[in-house]
Amino acid sequence: MAKIGGQCREVCEATEFVAIVTSGEDGPHVVGNWGEYMRTLGIGEDMIVFPAGRYHQTEMNLRNNNRVQLLVASKKVQGSMKPGQGFRIEGIARILTSGEVVDRVKSKFPWARGAMIVEVTAAKALL
Ligand SMILES: Cc1cc2nc3c(=O)[nH]c(=O)nc-3n(C[C@H](O)[C@H](O)[C@H](O)COP(=O)(O)O)c2cc1C
Repeated sequence: MAKIGGQCREVCEATEFVAIVTSGEDGPHVVGNWGEYMRTLGIGEDMIVFPAGRYHQTEMNLRNNNRVQLLVASKKVQGSMKPGQGFRIEGIARILTSGEVVDRVKSKFPWARGAMIVEVTAAKALL
């Protein structure tokens, strides 16, 4: 079954930004991306691609621990009690600097040095 389906997909279609957390030697490291960038590259059933402009610390962290957590949220999606829903998305990530996916990312974002690819393993509603 698709990990990014139903309400999780609705939130991914509406979120303004995405918080991306990796684990480093000094603890958690959070970076951002725009929901619009994620949508431009197409949200798969189990995969999300982000343009990587910098993400140097993130890339170092991923070499030692490839697990990531993302946070997406929007008030436009109904939560269980009131308007507003968010999802914690868990996955395995890597940053690629060449190949087919990177060519596609660079065609949309010429400033990108590569692509961060997240293979989604779980998604949980938070509200
Ligand atoms: C809303 C938002 C969107 C961002 N979008 C990107 C992006 O598309 N690509 C990117 O490399 N960094 C993006 N950044 C910057 C990263 O969060 C981060 O500060 C930068 O890439 C440095 O990463 P590092 O700390 O892993 O070296 C964005 C930041 C915010 C707050």
